[in-house]
Amino acid sequence: MTIRNTTNSWGAIAKSFHWIIALLILSQLVLGNIAEGYRLSPTKLDLFVWHKSIGVTVLLLVILRVVWRLTNPPPTPPDGIPAWETIAARIGHALLYLLMLAVPLSGWWVSDATRIPFKAFWLVPMPDLIAANRDISDLAADVHGALTKLLLLVVVIHIVAALRHHFFMHNKILSRMLPWRGETR
Ligand code: HEM
Ligand code: HEM
Repeated sequence: MTIRNTTNSWGAIAKSFHWIIALLILSQLVLGNIAEGYRLSPTKLDLFVWHKSIGVTVLLLVILRVVWRLTNPPPTPPDGIPAWETIAARIGHALLYLLMLAVPLSGWWVSDATRIPFKAFWLVPMPDLIAANRDISDLAADVHGALTKLLLLVVVIHIVAALRHHFFMHNKILSRMLPWRGETR
């Protein structure tokens, strides 16, 4: 497998970004709901430190991924894919990138507007950008909650589209993104 993308396949770096970030985001969707529903206790606070710490890690990884993506053109669509579908995929992927940035940023906004100081992984103090304010933290929590639901919806559509390409259209869209597959023709 090559490090960079080729015209036929995703490279090792793009695949690593895709699968590591996908796993972290899916864990975050579960962890966010568990932390939120947990009874008020030291464990709840610890669950939130994990949730916020993994969330800022995702933000950092997505920024690096966008830089890599901008300097590394993606493979071209396989033959036989209708133009409307290529355009729909581009819009869907752009929306995913936008949400992968907006979800952790809105989470950070919630955290910053509350009085609870936050150190990523109990080590790295995060900059305090705005004054604590209950109305703003409630609004930010609503925005963060709504964006996570939108992200989940777009991810489900994305997964269904990938499986459809593999099992119904029998093309290489999914296989060329799989971590254990090299160059596909
Ligand atoms: C990949 C990134 C993230 C995902 C997928 C995610 C997902 C979630 C989910 C599903 C919830 C429960 C929402 C609800 O049911 O209302 C939640 C809540 C929360 N998240 Fe995140 N989150 C992410 C990043 C962050 C970050 C970076 C922070 C802070 C630095 C953060 C802080 C919070 C807080 C404070 C809540 C509780 C909000 C409330 O009180 O209603 N999240 N998150
Ligand atoms: C949280 C979960 C996920 C997120 C946020 C996500 C996000 C993305 C994004 C943004 C792209 C576009 C890459 C680019 O153009 O630079 C992409 C490509 C892709 N994803 Fe995902 N993905 C997720 C999970 C999955 C899963 C579970 C599958 C498989 C079932 C999958 C299959 C694919 C495939 C096959 C491509 C390549 C599409 C192409 O060549 O046009 N993704 N993903």
